[in-house]
Amino acid sequence: MAEKLIIFDTTLRDGEQSPGASMTKDEKIRIAKQLERLKVDVIEAGFAASSAGDFDAIKAIASLVRDSTVCSLARANDKDIQRAADALAESDNKRIHTFIATSALHMEKKLRMSPDQVYEQARNAVRFARKFTDNVEFSPEDGSRSDLDFLCRVLEGVIAEGATTINIADTVGYGVPELYGNLVKTLRERIPNSDKAVWSVHCHNDLGMAVANSLAGVQIGGARQVECTINGLGERAGNTSLEEIVMAVKTRKDYFGLELGIDTTQIVPASKMVSQVTGFVVQPNKAVVGANAFAHASGIHQDGVLKARDTYEIMRAEDVGWATNKIVLGKLSGRNAFKQRLQELGVELESEADLNAAFVRFKDLADKKADIYDEDILAIVSDEAAAAHEKEYFRFVSLSQHSETGERPHAKIVFSIDGAEVSGDSDGNGPVDATLNAIESKVGSGAELILYSVNAITNGTQAQGEVTVRLSKSGRIVNGVGTDPDIVAASAKAYIAALNRLQSKTEKLNPQL
Ligand code: KIV
Ligand code: ZN
Repeated sequence: MAEKLIIFDTTLRDGEQSPGASMTKDEKIRIAKQLERLKVDVIEAGFAASSAGDFDAIKAIASLVRDSTVCSLARANDKDIQRAADALAESDNKRIHTFIATSALHMEKKLRMSPDQVYEQARNAVRFARKFTDNVEFSPEDGSRSDLDFLCRVLEGVIAEGATTINIADTVGYGVPELYGNLVKTLRERIPNSDKAVWSVHCHNDLGMAVANSLAGVQIGGARQVECTINGLGERAGNTSLEEIVMAVKTRKDYFGLELGIDTTQIVPASKMVSQVTGFVVQPNKAVVGANAFAHASGIHQDGVLKARDTYEIMRAEDVGWATNKIVLGKLSGRNAFKQRLQELGVELESEADLNAAFVRFKDLADKKADIYDEDILAIVSDEAAAAHEKEYFRFVSLSQHSETGERPHAKIVFSIDGAEVSGDSDGNGPVDATLNAIESKVGSGAELILYSVNAITNGTQAQGEVTVRLSKSGRIVNGVGTDPDIVAASAKAYIAALNRLQSKTEKLNPQL
């Protein structure tokens, strides 16, 4: 029987640390349920001590998720660990993940602690966490840049206290595959009680090697857990991408010889959900989940694939959940059909009122667009969830804009600010510019637009446009996503969604600070 590779998903914790990717409780719950359908072994649902919102989200996920272990991050102190334990209390399948930095640089400059103090604190933390669960993970932060002897001492100490998973963090993405793989191997060989723990890899993608480093940790080092995120979401250049790890291990089972518990047909739905919720668009040529990942454009390839699929395909699109665009609903579909499709997609709306609001949006869309696809339904739900959470301080009402060759475009927008309707108008370089200027003429947010991108949700010119807007103000970065068959209206909705996020005051602590 082949050994199992544990897939530890940290989209909701490390992924969420990506500036602008912060999620509401409802969004986290939706993603957690999708991760459970994907059958990930461990869901790191958040960092309980970082904010009241994250605590609540972990608590809700801990009581809803049954088939995956639910985990919370905690710094190596009693207060954080107590908070993690409280958030996870209702789960009977939980893990506490505690960490402290072990590199000389981090200990001296960031923690201002001596190695002996770090050693004691790490041991104390694991001992305390074990009071709440026998499933305790310990990570030496910046582990890949830590002194080997010191790392051995700390890890031996925490295993003696009962840590059951040891996770070697390549926090700043400094590792290269051979060295990182050998680091894990050496640690396992040198630490006398290393066989009492599962070894895990946690890599960041600053040099584009997170997946390669993680796989080296598995193959050379003997790690049996990989920490990763959907779409490789994460701070800076991101984390190890779950879909790439899973499909590499599955497709090259001849080489890795490991079993996985993952239902790979749920990969693309998970990718789309995370992208839609966070506004982090997946690049078209991204492995496995990019729109072009299975598109054969060259004549030679197309000819080969038609004659024998495996001439140019090493995986099948349907095995990772790429559905052939299926029309699922239309103008004549009723509330029950809509509700049933939501259930089939695994979306549970909290109340009848939420369902009714989503159904109104669906009907609105079906009036403009003949065929409604799953992606459209998920976008409606995403918009609805965001609107409900942000309480829509700013709310889109209507837009009219005029553009003509040789004329400067003009837009007039009606929206509400805290319930009171206002109307702004402006011109601009293009219709989108005019529309955003018209909004700003009334809001005067002072925010800087740092990203604007448009994507088609499905194929064809009648597809809905999905616009992502990223705003930055006083060091805060937020994303807004808006969908509409009219991309100028989608832009206005995205901008308003981002303004709503700037308006809400939920601040989180970054665990690494
Ligand atoms: O990158 C890192 O060091 C982390 C730890 C908290 C595991 O995310
Ligand atoms: Zn990390």
